[in-house]
Amino acid sequence: MTKVIGIDAYAVYVPRLYVDMANEWPVVRAPQMGEESPEKLRGKVISGVGVKKMAVPDGHEDSATMAAMAAKRLIDENGIDPSDIGILAIGTETTVDQSKSMAAYVLGMLEDHYGKSLPHVGTPQVQFACIGATYALEAAVNQFRAGENTRRYAIIIATDISKYPLRSAGEYTQGAGAVALLVCENPRLLELEPGVTGTVTRNERDFFRPNWSSTAVVDGKYSIDVYLDCIEGALSEYTSRRAAKRIAHDGHNGHNGRNGHDGRNGSNGAETTRSSIYGELDHLLFHVPFPRMAEYAAARVFSTLWESEPSLAGELHKVRASLENPDDRRELQRALMKSEAFRAEFSRRTEPSLELSREIGNVYSASLYLAFASLIEQAVKRGQELEGQRVLFCSYGSGASAKVFSGKVAPRWREVASRARFAEELRPVADGGRRVEIDVNEYERLHGHAEVERGHANGVAIIGPPRSVLPPRGEFVLAR
Ligand code: CAA
Repeated sequence: MTKVIGIDAYAVYVPRLYVDMANEWPVVRAPQMGEESPEKLRGKVISGVGVKKMAVPDGHEDSATMAAMAAKRLIDENGIDPSDIGILAIGTETTVDQSKSMAAYVLGMLEDHYGKSLPHVGTPQVQFACIGATYALEAAVNQFRAGENTRRYAIIIATDISKYPLRSAGEYTQGAGAVALLVCENPRLLELEPGVTGTVTRNERDFFRPNWSSTAVVDGKYSIDVYLDCIEGALSEYTSRRAAKRIAHDGHNGHNGRNGHDGRNGSNGAETTRSSIYGELDHLLFHVPFPRMAEYAAARVFSTLWESEPSLAGELHKVRASLENPDDRRELQRALMKSEAFRAEFSRRTEPSLELSREIGNVYSASLYLAFASLIEQAVKRGQELEGQRVLFCSYGSGASAKVFSGKVAPRWREVASRARFAEELRPVADGGRRVEIDVNEYERLHGHAEVERGHANGVAIIGPPRSVLPPRGEFVLAR
């Protein structure tokens, strides 16, 4: 029998500094970016793109220190003995070293902190834009399923600093943070479903970060199209694999979905089984470069899945009939986003996962897992029951690759969720949180990340990061 493997717990770390997109930033940028007025720019960023605040790393923070902070939180909050960790894998696209795995730096920080030597931990770094952590998670989960794990736990950390040139359209889709996931057998939080993952890879030109550059080079509008096409392709493989699996399991074609959506028009077995898939997806989570992107993606996914969903197919056909070119995928997606049915389904199945992203910005490889954290925290806040509900994960990395996979919320999810109060930390210090707003000058200084010479040793210059805004306290620190 296949072992039940999944996510036992998670921890989030986000820098304390932030820029509020409603305050000084649009006032400074509107004239510089040729926008009509600060109000117009503010409206575009907050309503059109969906970002309220952007997390900014302080001088002493980088992707490695954020990853170590998230791992430390995960270990402490869950009472883990570091000796029980067999894999410490990192997914990142903003690495600190072109050769050595960032996971080795993080392991070193944890060894120093806990006063333990952990020589037998496997420490890969997986890089593929924003999907790296998903590939790392998949590899770790499969190691457990194959019985190759040497210890009880794996820790997968997604960590990134999203950074674009100042005054570019990418600037308001920046952010920074890390999410650490604890993976084990019989997890308390989410049981990942085996044998259904859908994958797509295309050698694309939508997004790069050249070796000489600390900021990304992106073809913004094109990157959105590639994202949507890849997710659609991966979803198609996911639904086919699920349908095939169900047929193999049931041994016949007449499976009746949990919500009573049996196959309609006597089509083949895969189609019959596929007809109930949308009804079985309680939550649809997406990679979130900016919250509006999740709306585009949901509309694209709904436009495929509603086709065989009896309660929503009529809505879809109505929208399609109103189009000039009913076969244009983008036109259909845009029109669907304006429908009442879309708004209702989106607000139930996806909106709760966007709360943290609106407050933090893009965290590249960590964005999908931040969406998961957001879903859990919102459920706790609303007193909602999640047990047994299916969560669909749509992971995407530019360049480009997508993976669609799913899991079911485990019976003991509340044990983990009751400790999940990350959203509270995001309040400003004055309101009992830990965040500090910085002005545009300070943000631009940190964005420049001008290294400072800190002395010489054996004829070699020692370079340090820029001055910190907040003196580090109880943190892992990038010193030099
Ligand atoms: N009030 C309300 N809404 C407004 C508005 C206002 N005053 N002004 C404009 N808007 C709306 C627009 O209508 C638009 O919404 P719709 O798409 O629904 O029409 C939305 O705000 C965005 O405005 P623009 O279309 O003018 O887009 P932009 O020039 O601001 O660029 C962007 C947006 C392309 C995402 C740009 O920020 C960018 O290049 N970001 C980086 C790349 C990126 O994130 N790509 C995503 C896919 S790739 C990926 O996912 C990997 C990754 O992590 C990077």
